Amino acid sequence: MLVTLLLLGAAGLPALTSASYVTSMSPNAQGLLNESMAWMDTFYDRDLGYLYDVEGGAALRHETRSSAWYALGLLARNDSTEAERIITNIIGAQFKDPSKQWYGDYQKYPEEPEVGTAAYPASIYNSWDPNWRGFVGTTFVVMLEEFPDLISEAVQELMLESLFNATVGDSYRVGGVDDDNLYPSYSNPALMRAFVSGWTGRRLGDQNMTDAGEQYAQEIVDLFVRHNTLSEFNSGTYTGVSLFGLLLWCKYLPAAGGSVMSAYGPKMLRDTWSAVAQLWHPGMRNMAGPWDRAYGYDMNRYVSLMALWMWTLIGKEHSSLINKPQVMSHSADWAWSPLMAVLADFHATLLPDGLLDSLTSLSGEHTFEAQAYYPPYDYAPRNITTWLSENVTIGAESYNETVVGGPSTSQESFNPAVVQWTTGSEIGFLSLYPTERSLDVQVAPWRLDLSYPEGNASSIFTLVVSAFADGRSVNGWEEVKGISVKVSGNVNTTHSLSFAGQMGGQSKPLRDFEFWNFTYVMPDGFQGVPQLSLEFSI
Ligand SMILES: *[C@@H]1O[C@H](CO)[C@@H](O)[C@H](O)[C@H]1NC(C)=O
Ligand SMILES: *[C@@H]1O[C@H](CO)[C@@H](O)[C@H](O)[C@H]1NC(C)=O
Ligand SMILES: *[C@@H]1O[C@H](CO)[C@@H](O)[C@H](O)[C@H]1NC(C)=O
Ligand SMILES: *[C@@H]1O[C@H](CO)[C@@H](O)[C@H](O)[C@H]1NC(C)=O
Ligand SMILES: *[C@@H]1O[C@H](CO)[C@@H](O)[C@H](O)[C@H]1NC(C)=O
Ligand SMILES: *[C@@H]1O[C@H](CO)[C@@H](O)[C@H](O)[C@H]1NC(C)=O
Ligand SMILES: *[C@@H]1O[C@H](CO)[C@@H](O)[C@H](O)[C@H]1NC(C)=O
Ligand SMILES: *[C@@H]1O[C@H](CO)[C@@H](O)[C@H](O)[C@H]1NC(C)=O
Ligand SMILES: *[C@@H]1O[C@H](CO)[C@@H](O)[C@H](O)[C@H]1NC(C)=O
Ligand SMILES: *[C@@H]1O[C@H](CO)[C@@H](O)[C@H](O)[C@H]1NC(C)=O
Repeated sequence: MLVTLLLLGAAGLPALTSASYVTSMSPNAQGLLNESMAWMDTFYDRDLGYLYDVEGGAALRHETRSSAWYALGLLARNDSTEAERIITNIIGAQFKDPSKQWYGDYQKYPEEPEVGTAAYPASIYNSWDPNWRGFVGTTFVVMLEEFPDLISEAVQELMLESLFNATVGDSYRVGGVDDDNLYPSYSNPALMRAFVSGWTGRRLGDQNMTDAGEQYAQEIVDLFVRHNTLSEFNSGTYTGVSLFGLLLWCKYLPAAGGSVMSAYGPKMLRDTWSAVAQLWHPGMRNMAGPWDRAYGYDMNRYVSLMALWMWTLIGKEHSSLINKPQVMSHSADWAWSPLMAVLADFHATLLPDGLLDSLTSLSGEHTFEAQAYYPPYDYAPRNITTWLSENVTIGAESYNETVVGGPSTSQESFNPAVVQWTTGSEIGFLSLYPTERSLDVQVAPWRLDLSYPEGNASSIFTLVVSAFADGRSVNGWEEVKGISVKVSGNVNTTHSLSFAGQMGGQSKPLRDFEFWNFTYVMPDGFQGVPQLSLEFSI
């Protein structure tokens, strides 16, 4: 029997929706879908058929990507009318000129000026974002696979044409050319690219497109199996995208018929979760460091995609989300939820044994070791060591790279050495702000040794240390809450200390996080390898 009920839908209008698909999902997936959709309903502009920018503060401009995810949620709720409107709007604005680098990509927002004009120059990852082909394209595939009966023939054909163009445009991407950085090592968009090409090629009978996807997938697989890790390793946000990409590999490509993606996807997904299982601290609700790319220093304060996956697996209350995810930092990622919810129950069939136990209770004090390799930015594999205990985690990686700030050249998001601890009421953090192209680390229980093999007398060690709600002034290590820190090394042990505050201080917060900046410089006349050691106790 089908259950139909009245819900307060978009713009406060009662919408007739069906509960049958939704109620067939596991309770956690339903909760994720229902709560995220209730939040997005309040952003839906029914007059235009787009969501307003979900982070607000955009003077009522709209946003493309979250609109696509919302449309998927609408299909799950059997609201195909509004879903088709959104889909048609998004495709209407898809870039159509094959001579442009952004061909087949999706607009970031409908009000934007024409990309590539004098007034609005093309700027990759800014005025256009090449990864949006993947974000929107994969969402279209999920819609076509899960809800074909709810989408008219005409709109399905339009979506396939859109996917074809997006795939052709994506094939323009070559790492190192035209400011692009899509190598097979850039795990999250690489996984999506291979998938969309392999899926669309099969669906349209375009063997060349299928082969291109399979070949790209093979390059990703070859890289993965070197160390059984993703090149873009341990990120609260991007591990979540990569798991999504791997699920697409597992679910929507034929097992028979020789797709390298369906052959290797399940192993890659399980290996990735096995690493997460060892790095996730259930008490602190954080993935311990090091983080290749992080959008904050404490997952309890920003929305991460891993938190959304955790919700589907172990429940919202055990994830790192607060009750109202929309008030957390990076809240726009809360709009990913319909994708996670729709894939959740299939995902659960692929997990390694014992995963859920290790996500809900710490499997004792332990040390995790791994390697990860991200050519062409890594001269050698990165060596990762993370020690986890009940109240403190220390994780760091040795690296030797071509750039400062990791492959995304972002000092703000690359966190190669991270300590986290509990104060009882808050998560404290300490993270080395990367200023060098190479770093050697030693991690042991209660101890972190850092050195710069190619450093010199100008090298500095900047430690980004949490600000505390409960202990608002910090004048030295002795006032850092919840942990004792002893510093030694060949640095000048007289450090500088400044505050990065939203409203003032010496510098600005990073990723919304205010912090204390402990910086060590080298002594006058220094020669040799700069070295800093930290010993912790509680
Ligand atoms: C979905 O909505 C349509 C009307 O738009 C309705 O005819 C159909 O019964 C609904 N499907 C389910 C499964 O409730
Ligand atoms: C989700 O919403 C549907 C109605 O669309 C409802 O039937 C279901 O009980 C809700 N599930 C949860 C877990 O809240
Ligand atoms: C796909 O690209 C072609 C140009 O190659 C363009 O004419 C067509 O309108 C595009 N289709 C869509 C759905 O954007
Ligand atoms: C085949 O695919 C490759 C990679 O996507 C592309 O560069 C090439 O132009 C395609 N050739 C044809 C004939 O479609
Ligand atoms: C961790 O902290 C809690 C609360 O302060 C304390 O009871 C417990 O003994 C600590 N565990 C260890 C291993 O120090
Ligand atoms: C990581 O360890 C391997 C030996 O297993 C070594 O060859 C490599 O140089 C190390 N990487 C770095 C960046 O130190
Ligand atoms: C980093 O790699 C480069 C290129 O192979 C090499 O010249 C340099 O010595 C390496 N640095 C370290 C610290 O291993
Ligand atoms: C240290 O190395 C950096 C980068 O290689 C260089 O710019 C700087 O001048 C060097 N400083 C000293 C004191 O040698
Ligand atoms: C930390 O402080 C040092 C010394 O004042 C300064 O040079 C550096 O820019 C600061 N770093 C950050 C990330 O604010
Ligand atoms: C260490 O730094 C302090 C403060 O800047 C300075 O007075 C002192 O001379 C430095 N010592 C050495 C050995 O460089």
